[in-house]
Amino acid sequence: MTKTQAAPLLEVKDVVAGYASEVDILHGVSITVHGGEMVAIIGPNGAGKSTLLRAIFGLLAARRGQIKLKGQDVTNHAPNELVLRGLSYVPQVDNVFPSLSILENLEMGAFIREEGLAERLEYVLSLFPDLAGRRGEKAGKLSGGQRQMLALGRALMLDPNVLLLDEPSASLSPKMVDMIFDRIKMINAEGTGILLVEQNAREALSVCHRGYVLAMGENRLEGEAKSLLDNEEVGKLYMGT
Ligand SMILES: Nc1ncnc2c1ncn2[C@@H]1O[C@H](COP(=O)(O)OP(=O)(O)OP(=O)(O)O)[C@@H](O)[C@H]1O
Ligand SMILES: [Mg+2]
Repeated sequence: MTKTQAAPLLEVKDVVAGYASEVDILHGVSITVHGGEMVAIIGPNGAGKSTLLRAIFGLLAARRGQIKLKGQDVTNHAPNELVLRGLSYVPQVDNVFPSLSILENLEMGAFIREEGLAERLEYVLSLFPDLAGRRGEKAGKLSGGQRQMLALGRALMLDPNVLLLDEPSASLSPKMVDMIFDRIKMINAEGTGILLVEQNAREALSVCHRGYVLAMGENRLEGEAKSLLDNEEVGKLYMGT
């Protein structure tokens, strides 16, 4: 009997994408997330990290290359279809509806869920006790950290296989950064694959299994998170050592 290897959860191969026609921002980027993995993407401002997540989530066309989810080609599929296939995305900004309550935000995250909504809601709220006690309050009243928790919670409502996170720790206090990374680790431990874009390179590499360094829209370095943490170039460029 031949041993069959499960396809990677997410496979991005040589993706070229950009905003203005004829101006490419990503020049052939490749990344892979295997089952159970938590993978970091680090790199300087303007490297194309957010652009890569947008291309994966179908918000920006891939001009060349391929994106596969659980072995199936999903290149240039629409976000709503990708959500149905188990992909979830938390953008860098504007990731909650401020005029809606915490509960309404979470319910919107589960708009296509047909059953088990109450159970899922309780599970998500149990991850974020801060939110549980205030579920009727408007999201616009939350602190930055609580808002990030809500955005994460919303993305978790459909029990995704892969979660794309764009700088969840941006502009949070060190204590909140620890808290948010702690929750992301818990989510990963429950089996969700995670692709984490972060400016906070040291923190991201210390929680992730593997990492990629992106620079000027290209793969610059990749490897085990530990080896990237010890890498001299990474230290100099992104961690001020
Ligand atoms: N909506 C847009 N329209 C046109 N150009 C854009 C748009 N968004 C980003 N860009 C350009 O694409 C390039 C990559 O930006 P991107 O936001 O992907 O970088 P990033 O690595 O996420 O940076 P940061 O760490 O600052 O979030 C930059 O040159 C940026 O100016
Ligand atoms: Mg960005």
